[in-house]
Amino acid sequence: EWTPVNIVTEAVERIRRQVGDARAICALSGGVDSATAAMLVHRAIGENLTCVFVDHGLLRQNEAEQVVEAFRREAGLPLVHVDARERFLDRLAGVTDPEAKRKIVGEEFIRVFEEQAREIEDARFLVQGTLYSDVIESGTRDAARIKSHHNVGGLPEVMDLELVEPLRNLFKDEVRVVAAELGMPERLVWRQPFPGPGLAIRIIGEVTAERLEILRRADAVLQDEIRAAGYYRRLWQSFAVLPAVQSVGVMGDARTYAYPIVIRAVTSDDAMTADWARLPYDLLERISNRIINEVPGVNRVALDITSKPPGTIEWE
Ligand code: XMP
Repeated sequence: EWTPVNIVTEAVERIRRQVGDARAICALSGGVDSATAAMLVHRAIGENLTCVFVDHGLLRQNEAEQVVEAFRREAGLPLVHVDARERFLDRLAGVTDPEAKRKIVGEEFIRVFEEQAREIEDARFLVQGTLYSDVIESGTRDAARIKSHHNVGGLPEVMDLELVEPLRNLFKDEVRVVAAELGMPERLVWRQPFPGPGLAIRIIGEVTAERLEILRRADAVLQDEIRAAGYYRRLWQSFAVLPAVQSVGVMGDARTYAYPIVIRAVTSDDAMTADWARLPYDLLERISNRIINEVPGVNRVALDITSKPPGTIEWE
């Protein structure tokens, strides 16, 4: 019978059979999939699991803290928190091409993770939050690939580890049920999908500390208003994009020359196609006013009204 408790119990037994007394490592991304996979494996093998959280500095406001906090509360779960923010920024300096940015973030992620993994002696297994939909898609994905997606794929080949994928038979909504059953905080359980390269692909042009700060603040305002209006769970994704142009505006009696922020909100079932969300005008107005008033460096807010296709959900 399909109940959250049964799913957890069965998954834990299966993991124990596969891993036995060996050690496993896991890369936490901040998303619900890797977090759920890690918690299941932790239930099964306890301290023989070490989680590595690479903070690449491309997460949203307070996201790194939320992940660390959620896992620290799972007492006894060894968590290595790597602050790699400088490294990623250094490597991204001067880079504007979208695919180049994706490649850099992916490569650097593997490098940092490997360095950490080498410290964890005799690890034989790598835990990944692969879902059923990833399994189905991976057959077709390469052929139809539009953007090079970055997950933590590519790791096992480099590192010679056997995969543990406790979510392989589950859909996203089932993962959320399991996550809730495991006691994960609301915020993590219901988090909208977030791309591996993070804010690097929502900042058009060069990624700098200043531009990251602008996008982070604008995005936090947007999330706040979307949640307050009760729209967060109804949307597949909602986020802010920072273009590489500036425009003229007026504040008080002074001329401004600053960045616009683009609001992107879509509904979707599987991300293959998506429709731009018809958000209420009063919600859009609050988002716009607050971003302009609260985020220095922004003097204009625009709304992306493109569906997928022809647009992709992300801008890069
Ligand atoms: P696009 O922009 O291609 O995105 O319409 C489809 C979905 O995939 C997410 N996305 C990614 N997820 N690594 C990920 O794990 C990536 O490199 C990546 N790029 C895009 C995107 O947020 C959307 O949900």
